[in-house]
Amino acid sequence: MRPIPMLDLARQYAYMKEDIDSALARCLSHQRWIKGPEVEELEARMAEYLGTRHCIGVASGTDALLIALRALAIKSKGKEYFEREDEIITTPFTFVATGDAILRSGATPVFLDIDPHTLNIDPQRIEEYLEDGARNAVGIVPVHLYGQACDMDAITGIAKKHNLFVLEDAAQALGGAWEKRRLAGIGDAGALSFFPTKNLGCFGDGGMIATDDDRIAELARMLTQHGGKDKYRSEHLGYNSRLDTLQAAVLLAKLPKLEEMLERRRRIAALYHRGLKETPGIATLTCPAKALPTYNQYTVLVEGGKRDGLAERLKQAGIATAVYYRTPLHAMEVFENRSKTHGDLAEAQKAASQALSLPIDPMMEEAELERVVETLRRCIES
Ligand SMILES: Cc1ncc(COP(=O)(O)O)c(C=O)c1O
Repeated sequence: MRPIPMLDLARQYAYMKEDIDSALARCLSHQRWIKGPEVEELEARMAEYLGTRHCIGVASGTDALLIALRALAIKSKGKEYFEREDEIITTPFTFVATGDAILRSGATPVFLDIDPHTLNIDPQRIEEYLEDGARNAVGIVPVHLYGQACDMDAITGIAKKHNLFVLEDAAQALGGAWEKRRLAGIGDAGALSFFPTKNLGCFGDGGMIATDDDRIAELARMLTQHGGKDKYRSEHLGYNSRLDTLQAAVLLAKLPKLEEMLERRRRIAALYHRGLKETPGIATLTCPAKALPTYNQYTVLVEGGKRDGLAERLKQAGIATAVYYRTPLHAMEVFENRSKTHGDLAEAQKAASQALSLPIDPMMEEAELERVVETLRRCIES
């Protein structure tokens, strides 16, 4: 039987081949590889899609986070970097890039526990931390994990009350929304990733910063090109971090199919949800009523210490799975002595031992989906 991968990029390419090939052929004929016309067009189209004034292409989602944070530091403190005593609140249950961008911006990450039903940062923990007299907090980086929106009413409300910035890590959440507002476009800025497996993926690395704030946009753009308004006169300590013309061309070719791909993901998630919600030993996640999810991953919690055994049995049956994430950030060496925690982070620890993501290829056929559900049920029962 054909193995079922997490994601079949070749199948996706075959579906959009004509559009992608002709976009690449256009680049071959104009040969404007750096800041070619496709980059500007994509930035404009994404700003329109997200409903923000600005979108700035960068080399990766990690750079989008770092450069947005650096722009926020320059804007709010008049300094190139945050200082060690400046605290930025985030979740420990995320990809390492969220925390390491905070470290590299000069600030100290503060990891607070997650809501066990959504696995996103729990706004109540943020409130408690701030009410406890955390005077050095400067910002919050909520991560819309698996493409599921954080509670943006609560987070923006807390940020306003305590005068904090909000940078959304929307690397997994392009196309998602909170109360009809697109994710990445709600906070002071949002960071997107175009890594090949993301909702809109390119053929390598790529990322984007979205913001309504003219000053953040201006600074972010300068930081992408060595810190200057033009390349030969730097004002800030910048980077060489651009979205390639070729990648922008691929993304422009795929963009018209983004909504269809998201709908396919949502359909798959609904079928998984229906098939698995009553399965003993498996807990499905909750989608808040105000959230429009994107299911960059479809993740369940496997109870009773059975996660890794189940993954192994599924592998033997030809079904791929993945664990996002096995080690929460506060337990990683890189954050030792460089971060803070508040409370025991028990929910994040539990999620790290139970989370299992299932194949979520938008091009998956119904029969494949049924096979995943049936096999999973059989494996967990045995
Ligand atoms: C939550 C999260 N933040 C940040 C990133 C970093 O994006 P990139 O891989 O494009 O640098 C990723 C991508 O894997 C991610 O999943």
